[in-house]
Amino acid sequence: MDAKIAILISGGGSNMQAIHQAILRQDIMAQLTWVASDNANAKGLAYVKASLIPDIILPYQQGKNHAEQYLLALLAQQPIDLLCLAGFMQILSADFINTCQQKYQLPILNIHPSLLPELKGLNTHQRALDAGHQEHGCTVHLVTEQLDDGPILAQSSLDLSSRQGISAQQLQQEVLALEHQLYPMVLKDFAERLMKKQAEPIKAQVEKYAGR
Ligand code: GRF
Repeated sequence: MDAKIAILISGGGSNMQAIHQAILRQDIMAQLTWVASDNANAKGLAYVKASLIPDIILPYQQGKNHAEQYLLALLAQQPIDLLCLAGFMQILSADFINTCQQKYQLPILNIHPSLLPELKGLNTHQRALDAGHQEHGCTVHLVTEQLDDGPILAQSSLDLSSRQGISAQQLQQEVLALEHQLYPMVLKDFAERLMKKQAEPIKAQVEKYAGR
């Protein structure tokens, strides 16, 4: 059985497209059930519409709580096995994340443009350069209540020591290209284990990580 995946985006949606393309190639045994955005003008929505994937605008203009209740109602009506954040610029509340874990056993994955736990938050490429990091890259991790935290599933890196003078913008492009490889690769394995019930229940994975 294919895993039902949904993706949350805010902008370009290039990671969402990379995931969808991998699904179409049957690299990931999954269906892309719906894509939701907090931003009605997100560029990535044009691809979603053109691909005839159901698209949803989350009502964040009425507040985070309202938007998250809307999202929970959507999860109840159109159940999924896996929720992927891909350039989603809203911070999900602890309540929302806990409800997903406890009520739906729903794993939430995120991709972050740094080698976590280094450089949580925004502006990671400029910060990596400013700090003189020799290595930079991206991370796919399970989402927990803490921002850009949670068990790391995989990372992809590039060596900065031989890249003197690279701009933050160039670095962003290079890391984004790594993201487009990494996220589908992780999902291929994660979705397979999830559907074969080989994955540890999500709450246990998170608690183990938090040492609880
Ligand atoms: C990516 O670098 C992602 O890691 C970060 O925001 C960017 C989104 O790019 N959170 P896109 O919307 O997938 O093109």
